[in-house]
Amino acid sequence: MCGIVGYIGKKQAAPIVLEGLSKLEYRGYDSAGIAVYDGEKIVTKKAAGRLAVLENLTHSGENMPGFSGIGHTRWATHGAPSDLNAHPHTNKEGTIVVVHNGIIENYMSLKTKLTDKGYSFASETDTEVLAQLLDYYYSGNPLQAITKVLHRVEGSYALGIMFADHPDELYAARKESPLIVGHSDEGCFIASDVPAILKYTRSVYYLDNQEIAMLKADQVSFFTVDEESIEKKPVTIDWDANAAEKAGYEFFMLKEIYEEPKTVTDTISPRIRDGKIEIEGLGLTDEELKAISRIHIVACGSAYHTGVTAKYVIEGMLRIPVEVDVASEFRYRDPILSKNDLVIVVSQSGETADTLEAVRESKAKGLKVLAIVNVVGSSIAREADSVFYTWAGPEISVATTKAYSAQLAAFYLLAMKLGRVRGVIDDKRYSELMDYLCALPDQIELLLGQKEKIQHFANRYVAAKDVFFIGRGIDYAIGLEGSLKLKEISYIHSEAYAAGELKHGTISLIEPGTLVVAVATQPELFAKTLSNIKEVKARGAFVMAVAERGRKEIEKEADYVLYIPHTDPFFANSLAIIPLQLFAYYVSVGKGYDVDHPRNLAKSVTVE
Ligand code: G6P
Repeated sequence: MCGIVGYIGKKQAAPIVLEGLSKLEYRGYDSAGIAVYDGEKIVTKKAAGRLAVLENLTHSGENMPGFSGIGHTRWATHGAPSDLNAHPHTNKEGTIVVVHNGIIENYMSLKTKLTDKGYSFASETDTEVLAQLLDYYYSGNPLQAITKVLHRVEGSYALGIMFADHPDELYAARKESPLIVGHSDEGCFIASDVPAILKYTRSVYYLDNQEIAMLKADQVSFFTVDEESIEKKPVTIDWDANAAEKAGYEFFMLKEIYEEPKTVTDTISPRIRDGKIEIEGLGLTDEELKAISRIHIVACGSAYHTGVTAKYVIEGMLRIPVEVDVASEFRYRDPILSKNDLVIVVSQSGETADTLEAVRESKAKGLKVLAIVNVVGSSIAREADSVFYTWAGPEISVATTKAYSAQLAAFYLLAMKLGRVRGVIDDKRYSELMDYLCALPDQIELLLGQKEKIQHFANRYVAAKDVFFIGRGIDYAIGLEGSLKLKEISYIHSEAYAAGELKHGTISLIEPGTLVVAVATQPELFAKTLSNIKEVKARGAFVMAVAERGRKEIEKEADYVLYIPHTDPFFANSLAIIPLQLFAYYVSVGKGYDVDHPRNLAKSVTVE
C-alpha cells in the first residue's frame, strides 16, 4: 500500500527511483510521482494511473537529470487518484518536497490553522499538509523543521523529504508505516520494502517509530524526534536478488505458485533435527507450552484463512480450544484473554495495521504474542514477543500463494511440537505425521503437473458470474481461500460456505450452470459433502470437486474432479489449495487481467 523510494549518490537518481518503484508495484497503487534535484531546483512530475504513465512522462527518468530524488506510488485514501493528488507534494515554491505513506489523522485541524495563516492547498490529501507545515517551521535547518512537524502530527507516516537549499541531503522518517534505509558504495537509499533496493544493497537499517534519517551520498545519520543523534546497526538481507524477479514467468503469481514446494521445504526442513521438531526463536519453554489453555489466532485475509485451518488442526489434534479472529474485529471487541492463553498473529508482510494493533492489544493485556511472519525485521516481527519466520522469500504478487502455504506448514509444525510436549501425540503418530509433513513438497510438485488440465477447465469459466465453494471442516477453510483467490484476481463474485449451511439461504442463488467448487478431502465428512453436492446438482449446478485420489465415487455426483495425493487429513489444505490457486490464476489470465496487480487491492495494508 503506497510505495516510497529515494536515492542520493553518484548515479542518476530518477532511473533508480523509477526502477525501485516498479519493484514495489505489488503493494498496490493508483498514481505515481517523482521529484529530482536538477542542480538548481527540485523538479516534480506525477501522474494518475500505472507507473508506465510516469515512465513515459519522464522517458524512464532520462529527462529528469540529478543525483538525488524521491518517488512514490500512491494508493488513494484522501482524495481520488488524480495527477493533483499524486505525491510528491510540495510547499508553494516547490522548495520542500514530500512523499508519504500512512494517514495524518489531525490533518484537518492542521490545514485549518495553516489556511488561517495564509497557506493555500492544491490537493485534497493529508500529505500536502506536511509539506506546508514543513514550510511554516522551516528556517534553514531541515532537521529542526522535521522534528517540529513530527511533534504536531498524529497518525502514521513513512516520509521521504527533500529541501532545495540542502541538495546534498535527503530525509526520511517513520511512525507505524514501514521504511528502510539502505547504504552502498554507490549511494544511499530509502524504501518502503527491501525488493526496491535489493539490486543495489543488502545492508539496510530499519527505522523505528519516530526516528529520522539524514542521507548523504556516502553516509547516513539517525536522529530521535528530539534531534538527538542515535546509533543504528545495519541488518544484512540474505534474499536472493533473483527472488524478486519474474524469471521468465508471465506473472509473479505463477512463479510463486511454482515456488511452493521449495517454500514449504524451506519452512519445514530447518526445523526438523534428528526426526524432532525444534523451533528456534519460539520464545516459549516446554513448561509454557504445556500450560497453554487457549489459543487466539489473529490475522487478515489469507493469513486469517490459515488461522481457520489451524483451528481445525489444533483442536482436532490436540484438543486445545482455538479462537480465530480477523484482526480488525479482534482489536475493537475487547477480547477476553486469560493468563494462560497464547496469541498467535499471522502476517506475510508483517506490516498489516490491524494485525499489528492486535499484537499491541494482546501485549497490553499481559499476554505473550507469537508472530508467524514472512518479512524479516517487519513491524510485527519486531513487536511480537517471539517470531516464527516462514522464510518464503519475497512475495510480489498481491494475491498470496507461497506465503500462505508456508504459514500452513508453520502451523503444522507448531501443532506437532505442542502435541509432543503436551504428550498427546505418541511416537507412532508423531512419525506418521512427520512422514506426511515431509512428503508435502513433492506432492505439491505433482499437483503442479496438472496445470494444463486446470487451465483448460478455467478457460470455460472466464465468463462465470457467481461461483460457490463448499466444504466441511478443513475443506471449508480451503474453500474460504479458494474463493478469496478467485474474487481477488478475476473479479468474479464468489462465496465460500460451510457445505451444510448452504441450504439455509444461499442455495437460492444456485441456477442451472452455476459453478460450485466442492472440496471433499476429509474422510470423516466425505459422505456428508457428497450429499451437499447432490443438493446443488439437483438445482442445476455444475460441480467441480477436489477430492483425494481413490475416491472414485465422487465422479458419480460431480461433473469434474481434481484429485490430490493421499495425506493426513489435517494437512489436506496444503495440497487442495494448489489446484484452486491455479484455477483462480488461469481465470484471471483468461480474462486478460493484470494478475499481479488486481484493482483496488494492496499487498501490504498499512492503514486500518
Ligand atoms: C491484503 C492482501 C492479502 C493478505 C492480507 C493480509 O489484503 O491483499 O493477500 O492476505 O492483506 O496480509 P498479511 O501481510 O498480514 O499477511
